[in-house]
Amino acid sequence: MNGRSVNRVTVSNYLNDDFSARIADDVRRGLSRTPKAIPSKYFYDSRGSRLFDRICELPEYYPTRTEIGILRDRARSIMSFFEKRPGLLVEIGSGSDVKIRQLLERIDPAWLRHIRYVPMDISADCVIGGARRLLADFQGLSVEGIIADFTCHLEQIPPGRKMIVFLGGTFGNFTPAEGNDLLMRLAATMGAEDRLLIGLDMVKDRPIIEAAYNDRAGVTAAFNLNILNHINQRLDANFDMNLFEHHAFFNPNEERIEMHLRARDTFTVQIAGLAMASFFRRNETIRTEISQKFSRQSAHARFRKAGLEAVAWHTDAQDWFSLVELAKKRFAHVGSAAHAAWTQKTSVYPEKREAPA
Ligand code: SAH
Ligand code: AVI
Repeated sequence: MNGRSVNRVTVSNYLNDDFSARIADDVRRGLSRTPKAIPSKYFYDSRGSRLFDRICELPEYYPTRTEIGILRDRARSIMSFFEKRPGLLVEIGSGSDVKIRQLLERIDPAWLRHIRYVPMDISADCVIGGARRLLADFQGLSVEGIIADFTCHLEQIPPGRKMIVFLGGTFGNFTPAEGNDLLMRLAATMGAEDRLLIGLDMVKDRPIIEAAYNDRAGVTAAFNLNILNHINQRLDANFDMNLFEHHAFFNPNEERIEMHLRARDTFTVQIAGLAMASFFRRNETIRTEISQKFSRQSAHARFRKAGLEAVAWHTDAQDWFSLVELAKKRFAHVGSAAHAAWTQKTSVYPEKREAPA
């Protein structure tokens, strides 16, 4: 050794036979129900992950650049978690390495040696590609990549003091019941000092939100349609992408975007891998994604339900996106009056933005 610290990397894959059985089950169930629905995690095959990266660069898709701005501005404060003590930086649904770089680039390089970065994603390309690029650029960092489904493999997160980051608003891709279940499972992995940094897209003017999911270049439409391509390959189905059209709209009652694929005609699709056929009426849709938009109030209610509370709230000048630092609720076991008094005393929001680092 020449005195330079050595980067270390491991990648573990937990998506084997189990994953094939799960996609089969999810698609069978999703196409048998009315209205039809397929979980959004099946967008992310190799092509889907590439299309998502292109969405992030679209002029209409404000969440990525807004969140990156907040990460840049608040990196020092967020990463102070690692200032004095080593720990794990776990990122679930990590995707590309663009966002985590915003945090790693703004800390004292000496801290990199005591951070173990643990990206967990269903997309092998994202985990492997991201690990390779980060190791090349951040001397001393160790990366323990996990190719897994965070809805059922959270127990694969290594033990230890940790900050979990869940960016991009992916939390909003779950229904309230699913999201609550996920938050409770995340909370169950956390000790009293651990933190969960969660990204939330906030409610704003409807045309701005709708444009983000109906870009003029048609990338979101291609991303949506690609789920059919993924199912064709995985389950030997014969979905014809030309027979479906992208349909995305804001549902004001639920305060969420809904993405659907709408049948242009009446036809039957064969899914050989499931030994089933699926009948479509003209204009019938498959719901492929929801994307919840939050208010501070609705977000607090979600956190509270899962036994978590906000210890810091970071936002942009327009309040379009939020990054919330959560901890396990300290008084979860005592009466609500004591808890209310404590949160009032320690309230840190709305928080002033710091000057960029
Ligand atoms: N965090 C990135 C990527 C968001 S896209 C960003 O903010 O830009 C959503 C990411 O979550 C994709 O990389 C997708 O592969 C991953 N993902 C979605 N559902 C998942 C699941 N159930 N388990 C693991 N990864 C999942
Ligand atoms: C990953 N997730 C937060 C994105 C969103 O905005 O809900 C996925 C997406 N769907 C269409 N465009 C982007």
